[in-house]
Amino acid sequence: MLTLDSDRPSKGPFPPAGTHFTPGSWGRAPAGPARYHPDVGPKAREVDGSNREYVQYDQVDKPQTYRFAEASDQSEAFDDDFVVRTCDLSLARGTAAEQAELAETLGAALREIGFAILVDTGVDPAIYQEAEAATFRLFEDCELEEKLRYRAARHGSVNQGYFPIRETSDIHPDLVEGWVFCRRAFALDLSAPPRLRDFWPSDDFEPIFRRLCLAHEALVLPVMAALLGALGQDPSSFDERLMAPSFGLRLNYYPPLSESDDASGAGRLLGHEDVNLFTLLPAPRVEGLQVLNRKNAKWVRLDAPPGALVLNTGDYMQRISNDVFPSTTHRVSKPFDPEIGRQRRATFPLNVYLREQEVLEVLPGLGEPRYPPVKAITFHTRSTSKFYGDDYAVHD
Ligand SMILES: [Fe+2]
Repeated sequence: MLTLDSDRPSKGPFPPAGTHFTPGSWGRAPAGPARYHPDVGPKAREVDGSNREYVQYDQVDKPQTYRFAEASDQSEAFDDDFVVRTCDLSLARGTAAEQAELAETLGAALREIGFAILVDTGVDPAIYQEAEAATFRLFEDCELEEKLRYRAARHGSVNQGYFPIRETSDIHPDLVEGWVFCRRAFALDLSAPPRLRDFWPSDDFEPIFRRLCLAHEALVLPVMAALLGALGQDPSSFDERLMAPSFGLRLNYYPPLSESDDASGAGRLLGHEDVNLFTLLPAPRVEGLQVLNRKNAKWVRLDAPPGALVLNTGDYMQRISNDVFPSTTHRVSKPFDPEIGRQRRATFPLNVYLREQEVLEVLPGLGEPRYPPVKAITFHTRSTSKFYGDDYAVHD
């Protein structure tokens, strides 16, 4: 899902990559009384916005036109017959023939719409239940003033930290709070254990979400191998680049919708494409995920069974696959049934990146390259400056 935040720095230089992220440092709200007032922010964001106002930021071809939030007048077209394909990820643990079958089925799903549902992933569903409960606890039990101490700022390619409600981006007011944790927020690499309180308001959160990340990290190479196989590449050709992969775990907390929220016309999360190789999203319990079928410009309501993973390819993958695998637009809309809208919703997608100094280059054998090579951090921040402002982009 989304790798957005809202708190782009508006003054001063970016900190150099590798700068340690400490409370009160650059880009973070200093300790002290919260000064956040959601109704008087500097950003004028229209609920009726569309992507066409921002196409200059796209780093891959995106001819589609879409509204950021579902229209209240039912003027948008929905494709109720389209079925996002389901793929059996246990094939990745099987014979060479079974791995080839996975590459074929997964490749077909992604070429068609950029989304697939993965089942039999081997991930213990209890991890998702634990993560959901911890997400609710993190957002609901932590005071706003405390959350704002972790307000997001760019570190390397990715904005990391907390994003208040309606502050997901500069361009649209969304009814969601977010919190992004990248690899350096976890005790994963023994050589450089983080100071956990730099990232987490309480020590007990990190082990819970570390379990989630480890479970999904184990799927990164098998998924990438299948995608590479589908593209006619050596399935192991990204193994080194994705060992201890760069990732962003985004926690999304959608509070129960009030009547005024409903009347505001805002959605739960704006239409966007992910800026990454691919995303692994545990099937949400509460409806709302919509996927744009760019072949007919209709939205598809995506429902995945409990315990499944939703996989979608992002901008990095569209770039290196020479547009074979699209970076598909998706959004989260309010439930049709107001009773369901009064349910809180939590999601925790894992965004898989390449390291920021890697170069994104069209893979061989995929026709005349439509894109020149570009450093990942340049590509990433140019793309996401759509959400955070022009000074977010890092130039070579
Ligand atoms: Fe997304």
